[in-house]
Amino acid sequence: MTQDEMKKAAALKALEFVQEDTIVGVGTGSTVNHFIDALATMKHKIEGAVSSSEESTKRLRALGIEVFDLNSVSEIDVYVDGADEITEHMAMIKGGGAALTREKIVAAVAKTFVCICDESKQVPVLGKFPLPVEVIPMARSYVARELVKLGGDPEYRLGVVTDNGNVILDVHNLDIIDPTALEAKINAIVGVVTNGLFAHRGADILVLGTKNGAKVVK
Ligand code: 5RP
Repeated sequence: MTQDEMKKAAALKALEFVQEDTIVGVGTGSTVNHFIDALATMKHKIEGAVSSSEESTKRLRALGIEVFDLNSVSEIDVYVDGADEITEHMAMIKGGGAALTREKIVAAVAKTFVCICDESKQVPVLGKFPLPVEVIPMARSYVARELVKLGGDPEYRLGVVTDNGNVILDVHNLDIIDPTALEAKINAIVGVVTNGLFAHRGADILVLGTKNGAKVVK
């Protein structure tokens, strides 16, 4: 199986966690794109979706799935999203697609976070993938200096403006021994909107695409 086939296998398997007549939380990325395509096959059985990005919203609507504003939704049963890295403790790095803030908001509302990814995303320790940090544009240099004090090497993601009108710093070489503590520490820097560590609210279920097909890890 190719990496994309493993992503697709995980995405299809995740349909098993979608309950009928519910609003589904939908993440962002190439793995989620497979999930959206699969979700369209049961679109008449769900109420619709809440989306974590303009990109996913566009794809959902193009396939005839209604997209609700999160503010009009009191409950999300399941949130399905990919990850750039995930540990055995279900802590993740996300934000490779720059959608981390909306992803974190929808994940916070959802009862269950189902992470879908291929096996290359499983790591013993987070941090090989540079940690994305969404930053208010005028605070970019200040936040970068603060991130250097934490031991990281921030790199401005050129040409990228988030759906919220902000910029991304990708932080290389961080020593992420305690993801929950680092998540809080970085979020406390003035000018940071959020960072791509999903440890305080990690995944509840991992659907992993492997060379032998998809398997559910809880
Ligand atoms: C987007 C994300 C994605 O979930 C993450 O980047 C994984 O993407 P892909 O499924 O394309 O490998 O966090 O902000």
